[in-house]
Amino acid sequence: MRRKLVVGNWKMNGSLASNASLLSGIVAGYDGSGAEAAVCPPAPYLAQCQQALQGSAVSWGAQDVSRHLSGAFTGEISATMLKDFGCRWVILGHCERRGNHGESNQLVADKTVAALNAGLTPIVCVGESLAQREAGQTDAHCSAQLGAVLDALEPEQLEHIVVAYEPIWAIGTGVTATPEMAQAVHARLRMQLKEKHAQHGAQVRILYGGSMKPDNAAELMAQPDIDGGLIGGASLKAPDFLAIIAAGA
Ligand code: G3P
Repeated sequence: MRRKLVVGNWKMNGSLASNASLLSGIVAGYDGSGAEAAVCPPAPYLAQCQQALQGSAVSWGAQDVSRHLSGAFTGEISATMLKDFGCRWVILGHCERRGNHGESNQLVADKTVAALNAGLTPIVCVGESLAQREAGQTDAHCSAQLGAVLDALEPEQLEHIVVAYEPIWAIGTGVTATPEMAQAVHARLRMQLKEKHAQHGAQVRILYGGSMKPDNAAELMAQPDIDGGLIGGASLKAPDFLAIIAAGA
């Protein structure tokens, strides 16, 4: 039985003041029922999240990590540093990092290994562009992205990862994949995971991301292989985020 997981990806949004009110709204409205809940703020605010969320039912994580352990890597943040701030999760291979920062499948795989070695749970993102979907390349593309990560892992490590399917054309656009479209991709990702390890592959949570909102969350999460959501815009408003978490009950 896979418990639903709803993760807020704040991207590069927020301030000490706005985060304080968002975090207190989430904590006040979440009693641990419904889906499991987590937020991923920009790195400078991890300490603020740690302080605000410690002892609550909401966990927190980061939006990226270095593949290196330590040393002369200006601007990078290591997995052990994220652990120092109580992170449980780290989002990896988001299309905004793949697209804007040239992150390759191999780099995402290396980061996944670094995160796992430090005891973080990586949330590995995959997803196709509109052009790729229209060219019939969705499966090949998503499977290559996931395959590079799976190749770097021991089968048993599947137990410690989360996958997120985020069709690029649905991100921040208000256009959502239909539940059937999303489910079809999730089912194929599930097959690929099970080929690596039948039991753990069946247990991996596969989140959907891309304009998930209170009014479409329940329908999406009702699909057999949609185990929660990776939420951008709607995670920045406590009532919307809470409604999505409740939809995952
Ligand atoms: O990682 C979450 C994401 O990319 C989806 O963003 O704003 O469409 O919910 P949004």
